Amino acid sequence: MAHWLNAFQLSLLLLTVLVVHFSHASRFTLFNKLGSTDDQPQGNSTIWAVLVAGSNGYQNYRHQANVCHAYQILKRGGLKDENIIVFMYDDIANDPSNPRPGTLINSPNGSDVYAGVPKDYTGESVTAANFYAVLLGNTTAVKGGSGKVVASKPNDKIFVYYTDHGGPGMLGMPNMPYIYANDFNQVLKTKHASGTYDEMVIYLEACESGSIFEGLLPEDLNIYVTTSANPQELGWATYCPGMDPPPPPGFDTCLGDLYSVSWMEDSDSEDLNLETLEQQYFKVKNRTYNNNSSEGSHVMQYGTLRISNETVSVYQGSAPLNLSVNPFQSLGSMGVVNERDADIYSMWQRYQKSTEESQEKEELLKKIKEITAHREHLDSSVDMIKGSLSDYAHASVRDDGLAIVDDWDCLKSMVRTFETHCGSLTQYGMKHTRTFANLCNSAVTKEAMDTAAKTTCSAYNMGKWNPAAVGYSA
Ligand SMILES: *[C@@H]1O[C@H](CO)[C@@H](O)[C@H](O)[C@H]1NC(C)=O
Ligand SMILES: *[C@@H]1O[C@H](CO)[C@@H](O)[C@H](O)[C@H]1NC(C)=O
Ligand SMILES: *[C@@H]1O[C@H](CO)[C@@H](O)[C@H](O)[C@H]1NC(C)=O
Ligand SMILES: *[C@@H]1O[C@H](CO)[C@@H](O)[C@H](O)[C@H]1NC(C)=O
Ligand SMILES: *[C@@H]1O[C@H](CO)[C@@H](O)[C@H](O)[C@H]1NC(C)=O
Ligand SMILES: *[C@@H]1O[C@H](CO)[C@@H](O)[C@H](O)[C@H]1NC(C)=O
Ligand SMILES: *[C@@H]1O[C@H](CO)[C@@H](O)[C@H](O)[C@H]1NC(C)=O
Ligand SMILES: *[C@@H]1O[C@H](CO)[C@@H](O)[C@H](O)[C@H]1NC(C)=O
Repeated sequence: MAHWLNAFQLSLLLLTVLVVHFSHASRFTLFNKLGSTDDQPQGNSTIWAVLVAGSNGYQNYRHQANVCHAYQILKRGGLKDENIIVFMYDDIANDPSNPRPGTLINSPNGSDVYAGVPKDYTGESVTAANFYAVLLGNTTAVKGGSGKVVASKPNDKIFVYYTDHGGPGMLGMPNMPYIYANDFNQVLKTKHASGTYDEMVIYLEACESGSIFEGLLPEDLNIYVTTSANPQELGWATYCPGMDPPPPPGFDTCLGDLYSVSWMEDSDSEDLNLETLEQQYFKVKNRTYNNNSSEGSHVMQYGTLRISNETVSVYQGSAPLNLSVNPFQSLGSMGVVNERDADIYSMWQRYQKSTEESQEKEELLKKIKEITAHREHLDSSVDMIKGSLSDYAHASVRDDGLAIVDDWDCLKSMVRTFETHCGSLTQYGMKHTRTFANLCNSAVTKEAMDTAAKTTCSAYNMGKWNPAAVGYSA
């Protein structure tokens, strides 16, 4: 145990050195204002929005806080509740750990963003299948929830914002299975073919989020996308305890994610009738880059880039400019922790903070150790399986511009086979999907994978990570 703790403390030390500085980049005048009046939606065009927080659990506080904040921006911008569809597990605001019960904040000095948010799809109904059905406007395919869908017309605009953990080619959901990039892009193609929107904008925050669209999203669907990271990078949580800027005292969890707070704090402070999507993209890109430190990511854009000439208000509505809001409120320096360690980081902060020996403290340590052990098991077994499959060409990243895999059924089957023998990948283990994709790209058979996984994991007790109980991620 002492040995383990040392290694663990070392990695925490690394995490706490992540405080990075970010200089004043607000209101830069790089871009001339582009004409905005022509871009206003037609008289009978409606803006629809779909907001998705893909996680649950108090350690993931920030994803639901992000989504609630996005709702407030759209609501202030004049969108109607009947046109905003919210997916959030809704377990955070009233979690016993929340120091401000019944509320959520998305920045250290921020006010409550939870009040008034429609609870369309919560708990068990936050699923990939419902997300697809809602986008497609298919009320009969929806299970549970409010039944609200994007019933858009040919003139309408659609804004989609998703925030959570991700991995190469996949996005998390609090209920299995996860969102796979091929399915998501197929839904977008189907939506386009149905002729039920004019243009769509998607903002996506997740690790390796570029991989959801790279080589997959056609340029002629009238869909403009920005992602928080390129296909090979981690995403970053911010406003975390022990960092600069920190959350208010009492919060043991991160309040936001770097890309998400960057676009939303920009939308809060700019005149969205004047700012174009392209201008917002460049500002968010610069801020998310985090002064070229290794604790930032490359914001990417995909799809129909011409759309970025339109003003942000076309998708987010336009509130009268509130002059008392400072642009980029927290520009000083942004401390961040990578998305995949943010939960353990928060738990460890809480563990260290509680001084007296208590049963709660004991349980917290036990939980941290269990989670860490499962993660180590996942990492080492993926390595062993890779090594034991002689057909496996060295794990290489496919060339830029290509999807991580062409045979998505193969990828899903590799994931299921792994989970059957080695336990649930969990949101952390999504990082390994590129390895599974490369097995498919190297023509490794399902049988070979099955044998390798069975051999590698036969001695492992899956415990609570048994996919038969928690569900398969594919
Ligand atoms: C950006 O990083 C450089 C070192 O790479 C540092 O000297 C500079 O102070 C940083 N800028 C800000 C605004 O934090
Ligand atoms: C309003 O929408 C309908 C289709 O829903 C279309 O036929 C009509 O031309 C639109 N009117 C304007 C002013 O855009
Ligand atoms: C809606 O979903 C149902 C159930 O999945 C399916 O049978 C039907 O074809 C879908 N409708 C459309 C218009 O796609
Ligand atoms: C991007 O941010 C840096 C600070 O990290 C700032 O010095 C620079 O001027 C910004 N670049 C642009 C193009 O705004
Ligand atoms: C960022 O840092 C890398 C290496 O640390 C350097 O090669 C690159 O030129 C830097 N980029 C900018 C825009 O400063
Ligand atoms: C936006 O419009 C301008 C002027 O029409 C054009 O030069 C520019 O390339 C456009 N940008 C994109 C991203 O299409
Ligand atoms: C403007 O922003 C301030 C500070 O966030 C807030 O207190 C005030 O209610 C806002 N005013 C309007 C009209 O939204
Ligand atoms: C929060 O407000 C305090 C007091 O006005 C200020 O010093 C601090 O910089 C603010 N923090 C952020 C992240 O905006």
